[in-house]
Amino acid sequence: MLLDGKSMVVTGGNSGIGEAIVLAAAAEGANMVIDYVAHPEEVATLISRIESAGGHAVGVQADVSKVADLHTMIDKAVQTYGRLDVLVNNAGVETRTSLMDTTEADFDKVIAINLKSAFFGTQLAAKQFLAQGSGGLVLNISSVHEDWPMPGNIAYCVSKGGTRMLTRTAGVELGPHNIRVVNIAPGAVNTPINTSTENDPAKLKSLDAAIPLGRMALPGEIADVVVFLASGKAGYMTATTVVIDGGIMQGSVGL
Ligand SMILES: NC(=O)c1ccc[n+]([C@@H]2O[C@H](COP(=O)([O-])OP(=O)(O)OC[C@H]3O[C@@H](n4cnc5c(N)ncnc54)[C@H](O)[C@@H]3O)[C@@H](O)[C@H]2O)c1
Repeated sequence: MLLDGKSMVVTGGNSGIGEAIVLAAAAEGANMVIDYVAHPEEVATLISRIESAGGHAVGVQADVSKVADLHTMIDKAVQTYGRLDVLVNNAGVETRTSLMDTTEADFDKVIAINLKSAFFGTQLAAKQFLAQGSGGLVLNISSVHEDWPMPGNIAYCVSKGGTRMLTRTAGVELGPHNIRVVNIAPGAVNTPINTSTENDPAKLKSLDAAIPLGRMALPGEIADVVVFLASGKAGYMTATTVVIDGGIMQGSVGL
């Protein structure tokens, strides 16, 4: 199996892309820590699915916007599996507000959950990797909006732009220790974050028309790339972004 025995933490692991990553990595033999902030029942369901397939998973309640909770989350992996190999900073939110409409509270929330969490998550994971002395990997689930403006969702774009620079700079700083940092930038993915688009047929039609592959990604299509990046097959990739967008950034057909 591609991830046999690797100890892997996924933030926001009980929904959407995070849930797909948890299931795909566990199926490849990784020992999973599923971070959640709400809905423990979804975590319990995931754990029983993984255990009944012969895998290993535990849950940890940690609000990733709080550094103390990030400590608890990394400690859970070390206490349970004796080490940490991969941290996936996946948890994220958006406010869908423009520059003129975004409040201080909106801005602080998006930056804390999307960017501050990835920054300190990367720092804490790197400290653990250094203590273990065997390298490690941080994967940040960014977005095509790390580069591509999305009017009406500005705080989100700012957070993902920051994640891009976090990955590049941390990747350079940590490379000499064989600690890799890679961003994954999905385009539109069919998850709860896009429920409003899913429920609006006209909006969905124009989104699909703008994507050269003609549809949103399935969460599992992002998870498959995570598995590849966490496997021994991607060991020379760091300080960069892998885009998975069905071609939307190149095409803009129909917009
Ligand atoms: N769905 C898309 O189209 C898309 C595209 C590009 C990037 N992304 C990114 O993918 C990631 C996952 O999003 P998704 O689409 O699966 O959405 P989602 O809403 O299904 O999942 C988001 C997860 O983050 C968790 N979360 C929110 N605040 C948290 C906190 N304070 N502490 C811990 N967990 C918290 C939620 O509980 C949930 O599990 C996000 O970073 C998002 O920006 C999504």
